[in-house]
This record gives sequence, structure tokens and C-alpha cells, in this order.
Amino acid sequence: EHELGTARIGRRLAVWSRVGSTNDAAARGASTAANDGLVVMAEEQTSGRGRRGRSFHAPERSSLLMSVLLFPPASLAPMGKDSASGVAWLTVVGAVAVAETVAERSGREARIKWPNDVRVDGRKICGVLVERAIRPADADGPETAVVVGIGLNVNVAADAFPPELREKATSLRILSGRDFDRSDLARDLIRRLDRWYDASLREGPSALSLAWRDHCEHLGRPVRVATATGVLAGRLVDVDLEQGLTLEPGPADDPARLPGLVRIPLD
Ligand code: BTN
Repeated sequence: EHELGTARIGRRLAVWSRVGSTNDAAARGASTAANDGLVVMAEEQTSGRGRRGRSFHAPERSSLLMSVLLFPPASLAPMGKDSASGVAWLTVVGAVAVAETVAERSGREARIKWPNDVRVDGRKICGVLVERAIRPADADGPETAVVVGIGLNVNVAADAFPPELREKATSLRILSGRDFDRSDLARDLIRRLDRWYDASLREGPSALSLAWRDHCEHLGRPVRVATATGVLAGRLVDVDLEQGLTLEPGPADDPARLPGLVRIPLD
């Protein structure tokens, strides 16, 4: 249990051959704060979820399907308009840890595409799904429980992706031409998640900003960002955990040109 040497994440670990969704399995641990840092992994999910109610399909035994249960202090997880509000920084914790792991293993640049994809050469290798866990009324400890779910394509062969994803998705195996030890990879990822989460609790989520900028896919480039009030088009000039995304006006002939710098809060 202690061989990971982490402060929190992975001190409790559950590995299943098959579950509905590891995010749900981890959320069931939310009744007690003793499960802070619980990691749930599975070989296969029968109802894996992506963002916006999409399903997330991963070929059996060849991905890393992992969910981490965390109890961040209420000050770092303020309740907002919906259940994803106030915890977007945890998506960045997941994405940065994955991007570092992928870059190190593949020798390629791994880029974070806001809000929750990690990509290599424009192809998605991982998705992160952060959800609040509902806590039972008699639960002990802090108010807020959050699950950070990570689906990373590891030993997935190109022809194992459904045809519509073949041009859009990739895996460590496709990038490197070999298979990876998933336990080894899981250990590495858990350690990185633990370090980034711990740094965020000590210094505030801004501790992540530099690493996020380093791995950010579109920094300095034209982007279109969907917001609550519509799509904004401009050049992405900064990403920051406190300031959110900063866009600068695009070309003068663009009818959707922004009047000036715009900050888009994370959630
Ligand atoms: C996305 O791409 O929209 C996010 C995908 C997140 C998938 C992971 S797999 C492990 C965890 N359990 C789930 O049901 N979803 C996340």
C-alpha cells in the first residue's frame, strides 16, 4: 500500500475487471473522508462516460481507466451554477499529469486541448471527466467530494478504434510501436496526480498554471471557445487557473471580432 510513496492519492486502491463506470465506483466511496485519494481502476467499463453525456468506449484490457476520489477543501471547490462548477482546476490536475506521463513515455509532445482532452499530433489520447460525488446525509468529514476520471489509450491498436475515431484518436502503442506495462504507467500517473494535487492544496491551483501553459495546445493561436453566452473567436494569449482563458481580438475583417481582451472564466 505504501510503496507508491504518495501523500494521499493511491493509498487506497481498488482494481476491478469490469465495472459500469470507475467514476461511479469511486463516488460510492464518498461516504467517508477516509477514502480521500481512493483510486479505482478497471479493465473494462460497461457504461463509461465522457463529457456532455457522451459515452466513452475503451477496448478491453488495453487502456488505463482510472478514477480518483478527492475531498478538496470547500474554499477550493465553491458550488456554482452546475455540478461541474468550481472544480475545473481538477481537470487541469488530471490533464497535466497525463500530458507529462505521455510525453515522457512516448518522447512526443502531449498537448492539453481545453477543456479536457490530451492530444498528440492533434489526435486524442486521453479524456478527463471531473464530477462531484453526491455525499450521503450521514457522511463524515468535509462537504465536497470530487471524482477525477481518466481514460488513457495505452496498448490500443489502430484497428481497435471504431472507424469514425481512427483519424481522430491515438494511443501510446500507435505512437511508439510497442506495448506498455499498464501497472507501471498507473504508478507513474498516480504519483504525478498526487504531486500536482498536493501542490494545488499548498499553493492554490495557480501552482498548475505554468505546467498548463507548457502543455497547452492552442496558446498563441486562433481559437473558438464555447461559452455560456455563445462562441467567442480570437487568439488564445494566456491560460491561467485564476484568470481563465484570455483571448485577444482576431483579424480585423472577422465579423465576430472581439472588442478587446476577453477573459473566459474556467467555470
Ligand atoms: C471525455 O473524453 O469526454 C472524457 C472521458 C473520460 C473517460 C474516463 S474512463 C475512466 C472514468 N470513468 C468514466 O466513466 N469516465 C472516465
